[in-house]
Amino acid sequence: MMQKMPLSADVIRSLQPYDIRVLLALERLTRRFEWVPVDDLKGVTRLSEKEVEYRLGRLMARDLVRFDTVPYRGYALIFNGLDTLALHALTGRGTLRALGSLIGEGKEALVFEGLGLAPVAIKLHHVGQRSFQSVRLNRDYLPERTHCPWIHASRLSAEQEFDALTRLQSNVPVPEPIAIDRHAIVMDLIGGTTLNRAPLDDPETVLESILDAVREAYRLGVIHNDLSEFNVMIDGDRVVLIDWPQWIGPDHPNARAILERDLDNILTYFARKYRVSRDLTRVVESVVG
Ligand SMILES: Nc1ncnc2c1ncn2[C@@H]1O[C@H](COP(=O)(O)OP(=O)(O)OP(=O)(O)O)[C@@H](O)[C@H]1O
Ligand SMILES: [Mg+2]
Repeated sequence: MMQKMPLSADVIRSLQPYDIRVLLALERLTRRFEWVPVDDLKGVTRLSEKEVEYRLGRLMARDLVRFDTVPYRGYALIFNGLDTLALHALTGRGTLRALGSLIGEGKEALVFEGLGLAPVAIKLHHVGQRSFQSVRLNRDYLPERTHCPWIHASRLSAEQEFDALTRLQSNVPVPEPIAIDRHAIVMDLIGGTTLNRAPLDDPETVLESILDAVREAYRLGVIHNDLSEFNVMIDGDRVVLIDWPQWIGPDHPNARAILERDLDNILTYFARKYRVSRDLTRVVESVVG
């Protein structure tokens, strides 16, 4: 098996306008086909069959597109290809001037460093096959019939996160949202590191800042729903809460339990690592009260 090629600035830079045209056509046609036939690509791109085949070869060599002969000969977009389209569009809009290195790789996202007007983080949401089942259970907004449910789910995930950042930005310490395209969001690049790796001089103050942020977010109608030491960044004296796609509102049927779990994760971390303890029930009351 060949190693899967990671997406990089070099790969994106090596693409030519016709490569992008074919990729865009493929994206459009995935609404109609699970596997897109060359004939339809020819029609949409208005390129010759030879040209289309040549472009598909280049896209496959870069691991942006997949080919199969079953159930019939056809091509499909994969995450690398979708990422490319989003990054290309953001560059075209002038939002992104350079793509840097990969700084985070989680279950459902890739995060790159980049340069816009200032340093930015670009988060590419990858809600893939693996996680798709639980997504469908948890989120009722997925349409029943679509050829590429992962594209749709990833876009929605990005939209949800962008929405939370927009609601919270002036009052809660979160990365400033800058732009969204497809399943990609561009936000302010936060320095420092995640709480689990940050040595703290004054853990009490940091804990209070986190609790203040959770309280303020709640007041604005947002409960994080995946809060832990991995989704809090510490940049000097600043505490920043990241990773918001799964947020819920306070009217969600499990809001109370979810808020309690978020707070419990944080309190448990501080108790275990720094022997700073708080009573969970009281803290929850101080947030909802
Ligand atoms: N705005 C940002 N500035 C700097 N670094 C960031 C920023 N956003 C994310 N990161 C880095 O990328 C990592 C992953 O980001 P994030 O937590 O948002 O997604 P994730 O954990 O990959 O998603 P999932 O929860 O689905 O696994 C973070 O741990 C952090 O190191
Ligand atoms: Mg995370």
